[in-house]
Amino acid sequence: MTKTKRIGILTAGGDSPGLNAAIRGVGKTALGFYGMEIIGFRDGFRGLVTDRRLRLDRNVLAGILTVGGTILGTSRDKPHRMKIDGRSRDMTGVIVKNYAKYGLDALVCLGGGGTQKNALRLSEAGLNIISIPKTIDNDVAMTDSSIGFATALDIATETIDRLHSTAHSHHRIVVAEIMGHRAGWLALGAGIAGGADVILIPEIPYHVDKIVEAIRRRSRHGTNFSIVAVAEGAMGVEDARAFAAAENRKEKARNPHERNEAKLELAALDARHAGNTLRLAKTLEELTHLESRVTILGYVQRGGTPSPADRLLATRFGSACADLIHENVFGVMVASRGNGTEPVPLVKVAGKRKTVPPNHSWVETARRVGTCLGD
Ligand code: F6P
Repeated sequence: MTKTKRIGILTAGGDSPGLNAAIRGVGKTALGFYGMEIIGFRDGFRGLVTDRRLRLDRNVLAGILTVGGTILGTSRDKPHRMKIDGRSRDMTGVIVKNYAKYGLDALVCLGGGGTQKNALRLSEAGLNIISIPKTIDNDVAMTDSSIGFATALDIATETIDRLHSTAHSHHRIVVAEIMGHRAGWLALGAGIAGGADVILIPEIPYHVDKIVEAIRRRSRHGTNFSIVAVAEGAMGVEDARAFAAAENRKEKARNPHERNEAKLELAALDARHAGNTLRLAKTLEELTHLESRVTILGYVQRGGTPSPADRLLATRFGSACADLIHENVFGVMVASRGNGTEPVPLVKVAGKRKTVPPNHSWVETARRVGTCLGD
């Protein structure tokens, strides 16, 4: 008789709408279709270290499709650098031991870019790992889309729609800060869908005078308001140059000391960047003489019920993931490609980021309809 497969599942990184739909997709296919067992680990990789488990049976999986967040909880803990009693420790060995202790045949890791790296580390440590991409930033490499992006796009677009009323009625500039530290998919998508007049993304460093020029042009044509959709990681050309130089130093570092120095420099630049949206709004007010206001969308973008598009994507990912486990395909991420899904080796995903190519069709579209991108 063949042994019943037992699979573990965890969610790591920031929460995203659709995580529960994916847990359900894996669980229902694994339990109902293949007759496997499934155990959830709480709070990301930490649950595997601290023995915090939850048996995912039919009752637990029922009714979670439409629920936001993750029933398993999440954390940004890394297996190889986990804070234990205030000290950073490598817990990879403990995870490997516990995987065997719980009799797991596979471990499913749901997460963004950081989780893909951690998934690869555990795969290289000998575990049967399979991952599913989720992030509202949509920047996981090698997949068309990730769980959470569609919902966040809906929320950010609706917010821009609503901001139009105040901007228009008060003849103001409204600067809407949208999530996305290193990738501008969300700001660009919501900016186009919501008809923002200016869209600023990390991939296209901006010149303030170009933004001012665009706003003044609108005023000359009798439109005394503007909506600026700015990704939280968007920056002016000078700052972008400083970041690129520090990134380059980190990349080319010849020893741990040089690498650490570059990392410290990047952290300092990040700290300096905080509050950039508020500074930008103030500068635009001074230079255009139009009143400006800031709206920071923040965690609202990650919260609440997943959209139908995310429920569908998450269920497809989850079910395809259980199929791959059945076929003993490991060391891969389930990626979406067109209408289908396909396994992509984790080595091709980990450490890469899918940013907006400057000549992407969305960028070209925005330009065609007269949106200022700050360059
Ligand atoms: O990864 C998604 C994301 O929402 C980013 O856009 C954002 O910068 C980041 O997470 C912040 O998340 P947290 O504060 O939970 O670490």
